[in-house]
Amino acid sequence: MSKQPIGIFDSGVGGTSIWKEIHTLLPNENTIYLADSLNAPYGQKGKETIIDLSIKNTEYLINKGCKLIVVACNTATTNAIDLLRNTYNIPFIGIEPAIKPAALQTKNNAIGILATKGTLSSALFSKTSDMFASNINVIEQVGEGIVELIENGKLLSNEMKTLLKTYLKPMIDANIDHLVLGCTHYPYLIPLLVDLLPDHVKIIDSGEAVARQTKAILKKNNLLHIEVETTDSKNCFYTNANPSTMQSLLGSHFTAEYLDF
Ligand code: DGL
Repeated sequence: MSKQPIGIFDSGVGGTSIWKEIHTLLPNENTIYLADSLNAPYGQKGKETIIDLSIKNTEYLINKGCKLIVVACNTATTNAIDLLRNTYNIPFIGIEPAIKPAALQTKNNAIGILATKGTLSSALFSKTSDMFASNINVIEQVGEGIVELIENGKLLSNEMKTLLKTYLKPMIDANIDHLVLGCTHYPYLIPLLVDLLPDHVKIIDSGEAVARQTKAILKKNNLLHIEVETTDSKNCFYTNANPSTMQSLLGSHFTAEYLDF
């Protein structure tokens, strides 16, 4: 069972930012990554649709024999992970905006959160926000249009810069000292965000924490792939849209393939 792959899915290419953290921490693990780019963005869809798409992705990965599934999408996690955990007998790891560390570390009592509409309007997000940030000025911003630009290969475009400037302005005006990235597409924006934000603003992204949690849960369930020096891990990347954007994010060592799922 430990040789079985870890399944990872996202509404698109963004979850590859999570896959990179997992692969860095667990290089022996075999992985299957699904980018549901045909249906991206999930963030503008209703809860029922997000749940249906999450079920479709999960069942594909379970049928491929995955031993654990990483929901590498804040929108799918905050809307569907409880149902997935209650439906399938396999461990799930999710990702949510890291409000807690930002709220604990802020000195200005002001933090920014950039995420999709689906994440910011979810019950899970409200619960976490109420629990950890009720006394803090939380500037929430829906990142409308960002996922589409990334999916279309316009990551470092002028359009993206203009959009980000508009979204960051109210946060900068409120003197935030932490910006929480609440979408797995957004870590790819870090070079642009660093340029646009004042130097004192710390960017918080949960990718590394997700990788550590994946390792802990695999270990707890005796599912870690035993390290054998001579074995190379097998990493498959599938998208149901044009693979060129995913390929450019993966670089030349890995191959993005088209798959109708
Ligand atoms: N990567 C997804 C997330 O973390 C993007 C959601 C979308 O497709 O809108 O929320």
